[in-house]
Amino acid sequence: MKKYILLLLAGISYNSYAQKTASVTLSNDSKDTISRHIYGQFAEHLGRGIYGGFWVDKTLPVPKQDRIRLDVVNALKKIKIPNLRWPGGCFADEYHWRDGVGPRTQRPKMINTNWGGVVEDNSFGTHEFLELCQLLGTAPYISANVGSGTVEEMSKWVEYLNFDGASPLTKERAGNGHLKPYNVEFFGVGNESWGCGGNMTPEYYSNEYRRYATYARDYPTAKLKRIASGSNGGDLNWTEVLMKNVGPGRMWGLSLHYYTLPTNNWKVKGPATGFAEEQYFSTLKNSLVMEDLVTKHSAIMDKYDPKKKVALVVDEWGVWTDVEPGTNPGFLYQQNSLRDALVAGTTLNIFNNHCDRIKMAELAQCVNVLQALILTDKEKMLLTPTYYVFDMYKVHQDAQYLPFKLTTPDYEYNGNKIPAVNVSASKDKAGKVHITLVNLDAKNSISVTTEFKDIVWKAVSGQVLTSAGVADINTFAKPLTIAPKTFTGARKDGDKLMVTLPAKSIVALELN
Ligand code: AHR
Repeated sequence: MKKYILLLLAGISYNSYAQKTASVTLSNDSKDTISRHIYGQFAEHLGRGIYGGFWVDKTLPVPKQDRIRLDVVNALKKIKIPNLRWPGGCFADEYHWRDGVGPRTQRPKMINTNWGGVVEDNSFGTHEFLELCQLLGTAPYISANVGSGTVEEMSKWVEYLNFDGASPLTKERAGNGHLKPYNVEFFGVGNESWGCGGNMTPEYYSNEYRRYATYARDYPTAKLKRIASGSNGGDLNWTEVLMKNVGPGRMWGLSLHYYTLPTNNWKVKGPATGFAEEQYFSTLKNSLVMEDLVTKHSAIMDKYDPKKKVALVVDEWGVWTDVEPGTNPGFLYQQNSLRDALVAGTTLNIFNNHCDRIKMAELAQCVNVLQALILTDKEKMLLTPTYYVFDMYKVHQDAQYLPFKLTTPDYEYNGNKIPAVNVSASKDKAGKVHITLVNLDAKNSISVTTEFKDIVWKAVSGQVLTSAGVADINTFAKPLTIAPKTFTGARKDGDKLMVTLPAKSIVALELN
């Protein structure tokens, strides 16, 4: 009461001071599994994503295998990346795989017309990519050329990759150093076929998909998981036509691309650093559109595929800002702030919560491009705030999904509102429960009371990711400004879990 009177005297209303509260009720009532492939990554021949990011000059003083930098590999191994999508993106529909096999000195060069018009020397090709995947312990996801390639070219690439018998192509593969088949499963049939992948209509692409996918053969040691090029964000008609004209049985997955912009303007997207609360808020608001998109696309898929055989594959997502000043606009190099981490935590919660339909997703992009996990500067490397979110969330991979009910206060800015708290939860094979919570509110902490149905636990521990400002970043000079810390804001109170989420934070809890 004394505090209330003092606040009134100071002219501060009690409501604006009052501790905000949320509640979660968690139950054991689901048989769905959160596929580890939701935590996938994307590496395109774009800017310094491959060249400088994964594949470096022989003279660069970093540990390497062949020309693959191992500092990057080791950091990615730690967060258990389940798959890596390659070679694009838009690049995929201009990529001819034969240019990237055989002796490197004899490989033809090409112009990367999509990304900066730079010369691509094809030194990183099929064998190099699959060697990288092997080092990472990750599943390759190859995105093949429909836009400017032929059915024969795609068909032969699959044979080169996956056939275990005697053929001219397997002889060539052996001659290039790999006797055994690579057994690649995840196989994209075109990329953004509505845009850079050929500007097709969904009706036309459906027919093309059926033709290309027919000759991308299954071989005895590798049955393909064919993924059709999907919708541009809210284009529901694309999903409708693909589900109707291609349908379950012919595709393992149907993709969806959605990027979060700070503004709604592709010409002036907004900076990656140094922004104020206005663009912080609008970025978060735009990132929450993902919930609406996956709900709407899933509903269409349910109509044609009620047994949920076709996966929704969100194989490009992330924050897309203006490039860092002074860098090549075609290279899409951007810094990564606490804001990006909050978007990543929120988006991964959305994917976990839709794990009955979303079986795969890839952040764009892994190193040095868009919302990257890792930035490099010659031999230097830093882990971004987004990297740490994937580290904190890796416990959800292949765990049993736990459904919940959430009530949350809003985060209000300038008359606009978004839900302040989002959450997802799972139970791992050892019976540990993992809850990941995000508080988007830039200023207010939020007390969360969690109750449980059919879940017994004794102790809680956790990690938190936050920082003084939402625009804070890790730099090569100060690489650990944002990194997870031990969380002390959770306690057991009878059967309940009481958590105080700091403003603008991501919290990962483990219940034993
Ligand atoms: O990730 C960058 C680009 O965004 C990809 O090449 C393309 O598929 C998308 O438009």
